This record gives sequence, structure tokens and C-alpha cells, in this order.
Amino acid sequence: MKEQLIKIKEQATGEISSIRSLDELENFRIQYLGKKGHVTSALKKLGELSLEERPAIGQLANSVKAEISALLEEARAKLISGDIKKEYIDVTLQGREPVRGHLHPIDIVNREICDIFVKMGYRIVQGPNVELDYYNFEALNFPKDHPARDMQDTFYVSEGVVLRTHTSPMQVRVMEKQQPPVSIIAPGKVYRSDSDVSHTPMFHQVEGLLVDKGVTFGDLKGTLTSFVHQMFGTGTALRFRPSFFPFTEPSAEVDIQCVICKGRGCRTCGNSGWLEILGSGMVDPAVYGFVNYDPEVYSGFAFGLGIERITMLKYGIDDIQLYFRNDMRFLRQF
Ligand code: DAH
Repeated sequence: MKEQLIKIKEQATGEISSIRSLDELENFRIQYLGKKGHVTSALKKLGELSLEERPAIGQLANSVKAEISALLEEARAKLISGDIKKEYIDVTLQGREPVRGHLHPIDIVNREICDIFVKMGYRIVQGPNVELDYYNFEALNFPKDHPARDMQDTFYVSEGVVLRTHTSPMQVRVMEKQQPPVSIIAPGKVYRSDSDVSHTPMFHQVEGLLVDKGVTFGDLKGTLTSFVHQMFGTGTALRFRPSFFPFTEPSAEVDIQCVICKGRGCRTCGNSGWLEILGSGMVDPAVYGFVNYDPEVYSGFAFGLGIERITMLKYGIDDIQLYFRNDMRFLRQF
């Protein structure tokens, strides 16, 4: 009897895998668990057994019954879910187009800026966001007590280590490694402990550096004028305004005519008609001292552009926070 029950179970386990429809499954159920099915007949025969044999065989018979029931339910669930899937596959239906992403406006403009300078012969370099104080400040000729080193602007990571506050450290890192001629741009993220309507603690800059024999302020003006004309259109007026940076001398900031009001004066340009887009200047000889360039032989210029700013002007965006809010209604427009 015991052997018979085990055989029934093995047979059922083998058969169940070949069942392909609910009708077949019903036949299977009747064959094993129905009134005259194998398991039921075996249970009926328990009475013929001796009193000593009955408990153990009874238990076995019940467990075989339970196992076959479980197999049956499992197969039923599979067949039903398969049936549902079958019903919904309509090959004549049009496919659903996947949602396609695209570049963030900051990346679009970053690439545009880089393309312009690469065409002029500049090489793209990248460097660490976690930067040594030495590269971020010291070798750029920031005096020890310069306010830009203040805890208010700079995120300090540890003693002598900061999140870079600008991309200018790349000037030093590049010059340290190679002799002139040098012409590089360095795009990337920068960080300042600053957050309000017009500031975000992380933003993007592109640094530029060109050093060779006989480079003049005229080269700086020509290069940046060409950049502005390619970026904003040849008709765009620009001006070089004297300024100060510790690592350039002389220094100049570049303003372009306000793209919103065309120079008549509006809220965006604070009624001045001009918008600042970058800082620049001739590399200060003091910086050459840190990288062993001979300032009697070489000269060069540097510049630093704010990508958020340029993107705002290019697309007429009036809120810097929009870049980082991940609002699809904003991002879809680009
Ligand atoms: N690093 C400056 C800043 O973040 C911008 C800058 C000014 C970069 C003058 C330059 C430069 O390369 O020559 O405010």
C-alpha cells in the first residue's frame, strides 16, 4: 500500500508538467482526487489494513493528497496568468513609444562652449572637485588673509583640503605638468557655501588658459570677442571692464549687452543694459613662479565663465534654482 501511494505521487508529479490547458488540468484532478480517483480509492482501502499499519499509512495517504492538491493549484495559477497574458497580446496594436531623455540645459551649453574653444585649438582637461588649498588658493596668489578663503564661501573638507571654489586651480595643475605653449579649457563643478535666489552651493564653470611667447591682451580680447559672437550672435555688443583677481594682472570682466532688453535697461540687468558673463586677465607673473615658467619669456591669458549664467542669458531663464529642481515641465523645454 505504501509503495502504491508513493507511485501515485510520482506519477502525478510527472504528469502535471505536461498539462497545457485548464481542461487537461480538470481531467488530472478527476483522475487523482475525484470520487473514483487514485488517491480517493487508496484512502478507502485504509479500512482493510491492520490496526497497527493504519496510522502511518493514513498519514502518508493524507500527505500525498495534500501534495497533489498543491501541485494542482500551482498549475492552475500558472495557466490562468498565462491566459490573461495571451488575451492582451494584440500584435496589431501600435507600440508605446518609450520616454526619451535628453541633455540638461547646463550640459547643452557646456558642450557648446567647449566646442567653440576646441575649434580654436584648445584641449579639454578635467581635475578633482576635492582640491588642495594649495591649488585652489595659494598657487593662484591668494594672500593668506584673502576674504575668499573665508569659511563663509569655502567648503572645507579638512585642513588644507577644500571643495574647489572655482575651476582656476586647473591652470596651475596643467602648467605644473607641461611647458608652453599651453591652451586648455577646464569645464566642471565648483562649490561655494552660498544659497539664495541667485546662488546655488554647486554650480559650473569653464576655465580657459593660453600661454605662449608674445601673447598679449589683444589676443585675450580677440579670443573672448570671437567666443561671445559665436555664443550669442555676431551682433552682440560686449565690453571689457577693469577688475581684480589675485592670479591675473591686469584683470577684466566681460559684459555683454543685455539679451532681455537689448541694452535699454530692465530688471535682469539692473537697468544698466549690461550683463557680466566672465572674468579674465593676463596671467600674473606671481603664478608663473609656482610652476617654474619664465615670465620674461612667456605670457598668457586666462578666463573663467559661469555656465549657469550663460545658459540663463541664452534661454531667457530668470531663476537659477530651476536648474536643480528636476521639474519636468522646465526640463522638457530644451
Ligand atoms: N576664478 C574666478 C571666479 O571664480 C573667475 C576668473 C577670473 C577666472 C579671472 C579666470 C580669470 O581665469 O582670469 O570668480
